[in-house]
Amino acid sequence: MSVKYIVAIDGPAGAGKSTIARMLAKKLRYVYIDSGAMYRAVTWKAMKSGYDLNDPVKLVSLARNTMLEFKKYKNKITLFADGKAVGREIRTTEVTANICHLADNGGVRKVMVKRQQQTAQGGGIVMEGRDIGTKVFPRAEFKFFLDASVDERARRRYREYQERGVKVNLSDIRRDIMTRDRKDKTRAVSPLRQAADAVVIDSSRLTPRQVVDAMLKVIRK
Ligand code: DC
Repeated sequence: MSVKYIVAIDGPAGAGKSTIARMLAKKLRYVYIDSGAMYRAVTWKAMKSGYDLNDPVKLVSLARNTMLEFKKYKNKITLFADGKAVGREIRTTEVTANICHLADNGGVRKVMVKRQQQTAQGGGIVMEGRDIGTKVFPRAEFKFFLDASVDERARRRYREYQERGVKVNLSDIRRDIMTRDRKDKTRAVSPLRQAADAVVIDSSRLTPRQVVDAMLKVIRK
């Protein structure tokens, strides 16, 4: 495709957004952007630097003063925070548990949305998150809302942890997913919801390949 579009993918935790967005971007030769990594990186920095996570004003200034860029690194588009490539340290359960302090903060979200919009200048991106089709790119050419049942999402997360050698309990993961769903959907600012013009795909019984094919069908129509 010669015209470069913006593809927005939203959905709850564990619906397969990262896998799907990465595969779709590869097929389209677009850049894949994981917006959640930005919230994770600033949360991680706040925790590491001993910030009071209950001080919303300080968190906004922290977000504003953190340089966040997506660059190619080891053949993958990677998030750099303050010039350093972020890795698995932003994916710990502690970071996940504390993200709400930033994700619920309207000032922080404003900073993040602006950065995300700047990243996409010129199009040719697939961005995944919670508010991409509703807030970040309300005029994106293509919007998808990727969903899956709680049980299926919990099983997928469980398998991911097992593959990484992390000991976890399936019922704990299921509970965490339900907690995150509630937080994501009930937050006062930019809650997770499907954009009215998004194509909804339930991936519970689909392979990643089938989901990507369904999206490509919509895009190439
Ligand atoms: O996609 P993820 O699970 O890595 O995202 C981590 C958290 O970041 C998620 O629980 C909510 C928040 N987030 C958000 O509020 N808005 C986004 N666009 C992306 C993520």
